[in-house]
Amino acid sequence: MRILSGVQSSGTLHIGNYYGALKQFVDLQNQGEALYFIANLHALTTVRDAALARKLTFETAVAFLALGVDPKRSVLFRQSDVPEITEAFWVLGTVVPMAHLERAHSFKDKVAKGIAPDFGLFAYPVLMAVDILLYDSDKVPVGKDQKQHIEFARDWATVFNTTYQSQVFKLPEPQIQEATAVIPGIDGEKMSKSYNNTIDLFGDLKAIEKRIKSVKTDSTPPEAPKPTENNALYQLLKIMAPPSEWAALDQSWRAGGQGYGHFKGKLLEHYHATFDGPRQRYQELVADPAEVERILKDGADRARNIAAPVVSRLRKAVGL
Ligand code: TYM
Repeated sequence: MRILSGVQSSGTLHIGNYYGALKQFVDLQNQGEALYFIANLHALTTVRDAALARKLTFETAVAFLALGVDPKRSVLFRQSDVPEITEAFWVLGTVVPMAHLERAHSFKDKVAKGIAPDFGLFAYPVLMAVDILLYDSDKVPVGKDQKQHIEFARDWATVFNTTYQSQVFKLPEPQIQEATAVIPGIDGEKMSKSYNNTIDLFGDLKAIEKRIKSVKTDSTPPEAPKPTENNALYQLLKIMAPPSEWAALDQSWRAGGQGYGHFKGKLLEHYHATFDGPRQRYQELVADPAEVERILKDGADRARNIAAPVVSRLRKAVGL
């Protein structure tokens, strides 16, 4: 089984990225041949500063490694180090229906917010489809917000194979964990860099603690049982508490007698227990850019080799 996924290097990573995607990446490393990449071409749709783009690409790679992506078991690479991607992007794009791109959530949501769309935003799902299809991927671990993109990849692979009467592309399956499909932000909406509601993984600790303390709650008094529906604090605790502690925590939540402040303290505790180790590895790796570069170069060589047979099928099918 071939597993593939990517994360955009468009800002600091948050716990939504971890529980929705990166944690799965780490867990899946032993279940097949895993390829993970830093989507630095996709990031160009929002990052328009070369020095910042380079910095974020590096930091995203460091985050993958710090969180447990192991370059001995997985292929870790930068999207832009596989130039075949951009050729395939064009070729696949020639059969993609405009109507599909017009109903892409990524495009519609930004337009609805008044952002003037450019070609990069519009074509974003085509590049993502190629990311997946060029490596003959079977499983794509992601959060729920990426589901439509994977459905597009499947649709367009089918359109392409039918148009050229040739099995160029294999159809991938999304892998979405029900419990962590949508991690809420501190305001209860989906956690997202663009909503400014994130709890970051490796940012300034004081700011992160402040964020955790400001998770939105209602006015249920300390002595009363707390609601479990539509409650971001409850959802975050459920995701972050170790299974051995969850039953007791859940019980005291439902029983009443403790205020929200107490539970925020618990969330902070679990945050530290989970991410202090990765944070330390992150600091160590940031100090060794040559080693990170070596890992990414090696990953790119391996990724290009894996893509090579698909690239030649593709070129042959269309007559290049
Ligand atoms: P990106 O960089 O926005 O997010 C990376 C991963 O994190 C997941 N995620 C979440 N999961 C649950 N709850 C949340 N609040 C949350 N926020 C983010 C995302 O679902 C994603 O899995 N287009 C992709 C990057 C990409 C890609 C690919 C992914 C480019 N090519 C090929 C898979 C395969 C993106 O922008 O993800």
